[in-house]
Amino acid sequence: MDASNPLNGETSPAPKSLMRLKQLAAILVLLLVSPLAFAGEVTFMHQIQRVGGIVFPGSDTQKFLVATGYGALSVEPNGRVTQLSNKAGFLTELMAPPSSPNILFSSGYRSKTKKLGVIRSDDGGVSWSRISNGAHGPVAFHSMAISPINPATMYGAETDVQVSHDHGKTWTSRGEPPAQLFDIAASAKEPKTLYAATRTGLYRSADEGASWNLAHPGKHPAPMVHVTPDGKIYAFLYGLGLVVGDEPGSAWQLVSDKFAGRALIDLAIDPADPQRMLAVADTGAMMQSRDSGRNWHSFEGQLDQTPARIKAGRELYNENCQACHGSKGIGEKPDDPGATDENGLPLAPALDDSAHGWHHGDAQLRATILNGSPRNERMIPWKDQGLSDDDARNLVAYIKSLWNFRSQACQGSRHMRCMH
Ligand code: HEC
Repeated sequence: MDASNPLNGETSPAPKSLMRLKQLAAILVLLLVSPLAFAGEVTFMHQIQRVGGIVFPGSDTQKFLVATGYGALSVEPNGRVTQLSNKAGFLTELMAPPSSPNILFSSGYRSKTKKLGVIRSDDGGVSWSRISNGAHGPVAFHSMAISPINPATMYGAETDVQVSHDHGKTWTSRGEPPAQLFDIAASAKEPKTLYAATRTGLYRSADEGASWNLAHPGKHPAPMVHVTPDGKIYAFLYGLGLVVGDEPGSAWQLVSDKFAGRALIDLAIDPADPQRMLAVADTGAMMQSRDSGRNWHSFEGQLDQTPARIKAGRELYNENCQACHGSKGIGEKPDDPGATDENGLPLAPALDDSAHGWHHGDAQLRATILNGSPRNERMIPWKDQGLSDDDARNLVAYIKSLWNFRSQACQGSRHMRCMH
């Protein structure tokens, strides 16, 4: 490989974002303090703090399952979630063996102090039973992998890496990985090979986790690794971005570096449409790509994020909103965002990344557009001007198209945790 190729990159300094991974762990503990029961207040995906795993269970890939603090949830394209069981616990991972749509494996916590061990569902996540405690259990694996070549072989990561050869019933410890381990993935070529995304780089083991070698030459901290059924390795590497290579770790290419300081910590590829990817950002937000990982948008409002709606929204914006909020949402007075009008009220804020439009969820943005601002009558209720709910959706789709990855991954109630 060419030494000047940035993909061979140098060791990058431990990023601030790693601190955020630690914060995520703290949030996880916080959530454990609250009751695990689905109190009914969570109805949409964007209200879920953190997803531990994503699975496409059946042939209808419009619906998918996620592991969360509320157990396994089924997610619809509009983001609405259904809790499959209120007894499962706080799930940190979700795995499905290839072509067995109703079988799921998971792990996590039953309560603040009690770990679940390895649990299995044979009915698509509705009922669960513990099948093992792990090697020296009960474990709470934060990452698991099933070999696509030999589904009896499963891997789990806690502080050590463990392996099972009997569909998760018995486990043996293979020792500790080279550094703090965030994510593992099983090879699609070799049942004894697995990959580990760690604080000091992306590693490969050819002996079920007993010994490790670098799989990517740059020792970039890596929060995520994913292997496709045809042997492509996707990894997120701090300092580079989302990269893809061929097993066992060559021909690395950059897929995207447009993450605005954030990271992907989980990835799933739609088996029916490999261009469509779902990922969890380090902010805990679900993100989606429709072009194999090059561009990402928030899962919240994803049905509205179509080129047709964005175009219609841009036209409405240019006609009705640009006069105050500026070209492409830069704000009324981009050079002096703190300026006030003759009544001492703030001018029309930027709606792009530069102000705090992204502190609001989609529903709140639509409501402000339709009902106006109670604090400033210059922002009139646009429903009185004939704008419909559909127009508001188009406007929000356009406004969000002006946001970078960070603003989308930090949108709404998450923004407090995104300040840096
Ligand atoms: C006459 C000037 C004016 C026009 C035209 C206007 N706005 Fe506003 N808008 C404002 C002002 C001023 C505020 C700040 C209100 C406040 O402080 O509560 C605002 C606030 C907003 C907010 C909330 C932003 C935030 O960060 O809280 C959104 C969203 C918004 N406008 C969208 C629109 C859209 C979409 C249009 C076009 C349909 C539009 N505005 C047209 C003046 C305007």
